[in-house]
Amino acid sequence: MLSEALLVSAPGKVILHGEHAVVHGKVALAVALNLRTFLLLRPQSNGKVSLNLPNIGIKQVWDVAGLQLLDTNFLEQGDGPAPTPEQLEKLKKVAGLPEDGVGTEGLAVLAFLYLYLAICRKQRVLPSLDIVVWSELPPGAGLGSSAAYSVCLVAALLTACENITNPLKDRDAISRWSEEDLESINKWAYEGERVIHGNPSGVDNAVSTWGGALRYQQGKMSSLKRLPALQILLTNTKVPRSTKALVAGVRSRLLKFPEIVTPLLTSIDAISLECERVLGEMVAAPAPEQYLVLEELIDMNQHHLNALGVGHTSLDQLCRITAAHGLHSKLTGAGGGGCGITLLKPGETEAQRGYLCPEQQTQASNLVTAAAEAGVPRSLSNRLSPAICLKEQSLSRPSPNTATKMHAVDRDIEADTELGNDPFLDTVCLQ
Ligand code: MEV
Repeated sequence: MLSEALLVSAPGKVILHGEHAVVHGKVALAVALNLRTFLLLRPQSNGKVSLNLPNIGIKQVWDVAGLQLLDTNFLEQGDGPAPTPEQLEKLKKVAGLPEDGVGTEGLAVLAFLYLYLAICRKQRVLPSLDIVVWSELPPGAGLGSSAAYSVCLVAALLTACENITNPLKDRDAISRWSEEDLESINKWAYEGERVIHGNPSGVDNAVSTWGGALRYQQGKMSSLKRLPALQILLTNTKVPRSTKALVAGVRSRLLKFPEIVTPLLTSIDAISLECERVLGEMVAAPAPEQYLVLEELIDMNQHHLNALGVGHTSLDQLCRITAAHGLHSKLTGAGGGGCGITLLKPGETEAQRGYLCPEQQTQASNLVTAAAEAGVPRSLSNRLSPAICLKEQSLSRPSPNTATKMHAVDRDIEADTELGNDPFLDTVCLQ
């Protein structure tokens, strides 16, 4: 068991095409966002394990001795996917959560408890830890906040238990894990995602683990190396929704109308493939018509997603307002509210932004507000790019830096949190 504090971060994501279809084995195209989740793990000797999630108001402490007495053999992984519903029921009892209906906060606690017990149970004695997780990502908005949470938890716990190597060398400020260790992080993070979402495709945790831009299908991913410089406007409708419920809704529609829904999923798959082809072509031989194709693909996919039942009036409003200015939008992530993406054309982006009516500008700025409210500790904000840009996401040159990372722990962060100062007041520097 490591004795020093660990600071880990992982990015959120935006799905360009393929949400929901990817759950049914189709292709999704996704890129890592420049908004991250951070986790600080500090080993303790007080016999407690504590979880502090300031963004969603969670502060929970367990006695390690109590957890140690639990028979965690039920967490032994069988051949099937873990965790099983029976395992989760037992964990809910441990966490003191109601058997029926656990909200976002409860699921975050449940995922932590599952990962802590499943990963650390191989230690002779369960470790005493203090864990704080905070995020620039608005929760439940389709930007992969739960995946970034799972990736951070897993990376920190696996490193603390020495199941994977601490990638930080003496003088490093930031480092990444080896490919093999990233595979382990991704595999465990998927299980954390299963606790939260039931039956996820795995695309969110894969992007959060590896960063960059990915084509993902049934657990297989390849990075999109040839990506043109695209400007995407992100709008948070701020309408809350449950990914688990939306994914389940699409499944029941598929079961009810297989002849109707299967072709929709096949068509979304074709849209992702066509988008990938056009993006590649835009790098090799750019031409203005290619934007028209991307716009048509966005429109068609948005209609399909509506037909799958994952639209929302707030997203219709986004599409309508942007269409009035010649722009094309679709939902991103699970839909039912959450975030939408709008493709901005090169050269015209300043003008297009100016054209957006005040209503749309307000919607766009909601995301800024959400991230600014989330905040990060003072000492970290200095290290973040001063040009972190929330309203527009540049899809050019996805950098491997966006993957999950281990940061050198700054004394200021330790001091801030130890003194009980609120380290979450300062915000990232916004453009
Ligand atoms: C959520 O970000 C994307 C969905 O396709 C669900 C999943 O892939 O697990 C809706």
